[in-house]
Amino acid sequence: MLELYFANMLEEAIGEKGLSLLQIESLRDNIEKAHEQIIKRKWQELAFLDLAAYDTSSIKEIAAEVISTSDYFLLLGIGGSAMGPRVILEALKPLHNYISSPKIFIYDNIDPRTLNAILSIIDASKTSVNVVTKSGTTAETLASFMVLWNKMEKALGKDAAKRFIISTSPAKGMMRELVNEYGFKSLPIPDGIVGRYSVFSSAGLLISEIAGINTTELLSGARDIIQRCQVSELWENPAYVFSALLYLMSVKEGRNINVMMPYADGLKAAAEWFCQLWAESLGKLGFGLTPYPSLGTTDQHSQLQLWLEGPEDKVVIFIHIGDYAVDIKIPNIFEEKERCSCLAGNSLSDLIKAAEEATEVVLSEASKPNMTLYMPTIDAYHVGQLLQFLELSTVVIGFLFGVNPFNQPWIEKGKENIFAMLSKDEFCQKKELLKRLRLDNVCWRL
Ligand code: PA5
Repeated sequence: MLELYFANMLEEAIGEKGLSLLQIESLRDNIEKAHEQIIKRKWQELAFLDLAAYDTSSIKEIAAEVISTSDYFLLLGIGGSAMGPRVILEALKPLHNYISSPKIFIYDNIDPRTLNAILSIIDASKTSVNVVTKSGTTAETLASFMVLWNKMEKALGKDAAKRFIISTSPAKGMMRELVNEYGFKSLPIPDGIVGRYSVFSSAGLLISEIAGINTTELLSGARDIIQRCQVSELWENPAYVFSALLYLMSVKEGRNINVMMPYADGLKAAAEWFCQLWAESLGKLGFGLTPYPSLGTTDQHSQLQLWLEGPEDKVVIFIHIGDYAVDIKIPNIFEEKERCSCLAGNSLSDLIKAAEEATEVVLSEASKPNMTLYMPTIDAYHVGQLLQFLELSTVVIGFLFGVNPFNQPWIEKGKENIFAMLSKDEFCQKKELLKRLRLDNVCWRL
């Protein structure tokens, strides 16, 4: 089970820059209101809390078929439709393509150089393509789908359709229409599920199955967190304590930057995924917490100086790994040299843990608030727990701020603007946008 260590957020540990128990207690009513909304699923979008209990047999069937027919698997999607799948893959199958098959690519950013490189590797007759788009209308995903469909159809003719799997809304959107017209295989992203909360839907599960990840364990971890975090008592509910602390650090202490710092390469993508959740869900009505992805120990060598001596605006959240499952001993050599003799005989996990603990101590001694999510090990069960915990906490803190953690009006606006910019209708908004761009287009030639 994950554990949350939060003493270093409190005044007892870090002095006046810490929070008092009384301040936390003062949130009791608001937490109760949040609890009520969550338990009674008062928002349709809270359906993400139930995803881990869905039947996954159709996902497993399609995955088995992909594995038996494909050397390459390409996921096309962006935002929540790519970041969630990437988190699971990178956490649980690091360096997958060097070790296993089918080779997996997640193409999200419509950078032509990236797609060109992928196309130069894959062989259409041995490739399966999973288009992941909840809305079915996102420009980046549609464009990459159009490119892939065109290539695959040219190479394979009618058989191309068999190589596409569309994960989208069960009934709505343009991709669903194409599923109906072209007979593509499809998997639903259920109604009410918002992109960034979709990791436990077919968006994240199909790729996991294809990569050989134990989705039963992943979902079991997620379910156990829901179970663990359904107590109403503030002090007994880790998601409520986590959210309350970060909320108070923002409104009482002006600490509006949350650094997410796992000490594991495999969780780097999780820190980025957290940033999407936090930014897109909370940045509303003048509120919001700026998430800041980080990686230990790497960023101790680039960011720590700023955290210790820069503006007093951050809270650091460490993810501590209890057991790395594999380890490498630092050999007993060069022992006549002082620094080498200190390292010799320890393991790399001893070193990474020592680095983390040293950072925690240095921050706490300098009265910089920080807390630690303890993850016993990086396996499917605990990754499921971590992701579900962070999703739930996002909703709780959103409710504390009084914002809707499920919408993203400005992202939608950005999506429309892409189409406007490319519109062939000269009377559309494109003209206005271009006019503004021209005004800004005063520049120095370098
Ligand atoms: O969280 C969100 O809603 C967004 O990040 C979406 O996931 C992203 O914009 C992609 O949308 P869609 O899955 O509809 O293509």
